[in-house]
Amino acid sequence: MDSKGKVLVTGGAGYIGTHTIVQLIGSGYDVVVVDDLSNSHESVLDDVARITGKRPTAMFFDLCDAAQTDELFATHRPSAVIHFAAKKLVGESVLNPLLYYKTNILSLINVIESSIRFDCMKLVFSSSCSVYGQPEENPVSELTPLQKAESPYGNTKRICEEILADTVKAAKLQVASLRYFNPVGAHESALIGEYPLGVPSNLMPVITQTAIGKRDSFSVFGSDYDTPDGTCIRDYIHVMDLADAHVAALRYLENSKRDGFVSTFNIGTGNGISVKQMINAFERVNQVSLNYQLSGRRAGDVVQVWADNTKALKELGWAPTRGLDDMVRSAWKWECHLKEIQIKEEHS
Ligand code: NAD
Ligand code: WQD
Repeated sequence: MDSKGKVLVTGGAGYIGTHTIVQLIGSGYDVVVVDDLSNSHESVLDDVARITGKRPTAMFFDLCDAAQTDELFATHRPSAVIHFAAKKLVGESVLNPLLYYKTNILSLINVIESSIRFDCMKLVFSSSCSVYGQPEENPVSELTPLQKAESPYGNTKRICEEILADTVKAAKLQVASLRYFNPVGAHESALIGEYPLGVPSNLMPVITQTAIGKRDSFSVFGSDYDTPDGTCIRDYIHVMDLADAHVAALRYLENSKRDGFVSTFNIGTGNGISVKQMINAFERVNQVSLNYQLSGRRAGDVVQVWADNTKALKELGWAPTRGLDDMVRSAWKWECHLKEIQIKEEHS
């Protein structure tokens, strides 16, 4: 297959990055990865190679270093960037806000500056549904007013969106800003999945870790909300559907005749799923019983949010194809595979 062009994937060793690389390579793109491995393992690139037959070229450094970022662009001359690299733990951002403001904002500024300097004018940015805060109405569209961020992490995404909006008024950059809802699941092969360095606090890894016995039990945070079953509602999206949205966003930028713009897209399924529904689906599909207790509300939790994804369906020509059963099945298959990896690591 002829190459469709060279794409720089920042944070490419991370959860969403690895799945996106698989789809990019499968679509004929050359991929260059940059990652500082602050929340990932270099070995995942071998797993990407097992799936695709190609190990992407990779460089390992912190994108807060402007000189190294420039050198990366000078060496590889990408035609587009997908910028995943960021710190993403809400709790950690409350404890160490400056680390989040510094890392997430400075790395974006460095990537934009190098992009402009080396005439790489297509950028896909990882934003988040956290910019909507607790919306007054659901589903939320891209035109729904944004709310004050609940955390420094969420605020960095909002500030990054504003930086991009101001930059395109002065430069010819073409930007697709993707507001992800809640990514879950793993590649169907279970060779890659979410493999963070720290202790995860998101619902799906908490569920799978309980099922495999890494945790004795978990808490359902709040069962007295004003929702049909009393638990919070989110728009969970299969990480492979999210990966496909990045390929679609690149094509959208390639086909665009304009320059100097940001197009923002909600990347969700459009379905609201409660915590209890997620637990029930996991137990039913995987035939595993989960040990959990209903407990108090978690501070800062949004009660319910799900996406109006009409704009992405129409303008990106993308649509999610994997349902809730695929999400919980692939997440469980990945957790089982991760246990095998960790047992091997302990014995080596
Ligand atoms: P991740 O932590 O798995 O991946 C991010 C990668 O970036 C990691 O490999 C990390 O080592 C790397 N990185 C971090 N700071 C860096 C730096 N300064 N220089 C170079 N590399 C750096 O996270 P993810 O879940 O794959 O998220 C990817 C992006 O999507 C992030 O921007 C995140 O904020 C955003 N996002 C994630 C979610 C989610 O729930 N996972 C939801 C919405 C948005
Ligand atoms: C989902 C639901 C919890 C753990 C966070 C960030 C957001 C975005 C995605 C990046 C909630 C409940 C969870 C547990 C539970 N990230 N829950 N017991 O809060 O929607 O969003 O990740 O941009 O910015 O804030 O995701 O997976 O933490 O929670 O009951 O042990 O599961 O209360 O209702 P959240 P989550």
